[in-house]
Amino acid sequence: MKILVVNGPNLNMLGRRDKQIYGEKTLAEIDSLVKKQGEALNVEVVTFQSNSEGALVDFIQKQSDSADGIIINPGALTHYGFSLRDALADSKLPVVEVHLSNIYAREEWRAKSVTAPIAKGQISGLGWRGYAAALQVLVDEQRGEN
Ligand code: DQA
Repeated sequence: MKILVVNGPNLNMLGRRDKQIYGEKTLAEIDSLVKKQGEALNVEVVTFQSNSEGALVDFIQKQSDSADGIIINPGALTHYGFSLRDALADSKLPVVEVHLSNIYAREEWRAKSVTAPIAKGQISGLGWRGYAAALQVLVDEQRGEN
């Protein structure tokens, strides 16, 4: 089983960016924790981050035929990234949207997600553990566990 973990704009700055909101961990640390969890579950975890919507779309298009699910934190593209939304929908894969912060408890414009309607579900406000929860859900569901 292969799960993609995709992060959008500015998430490469985790660890330096507003730590009160996004937590202390760098993206490399989060990726490594999720990969370790993948090893324990016997699942391949492939991580990718870009600040460019086109590069995210290219990655999803290239990888989706060989993948079983996508965990995505689209960053600010959450709120207006229609081509990313279409690429996720076209992948036909189960998608879990993750936000480190609670997007419903911040500025009003953050409360709208254009990607959530094509996602299986969304985890918002649980910090880096949201990625871990998303991985567990996708793996359990693929394996048909109740
Ligand atoms: C975010 C929330 C977005 O509104 C913001 O633009 C981000 C990060 C989060 O993980 O909480 O870049 O997706």
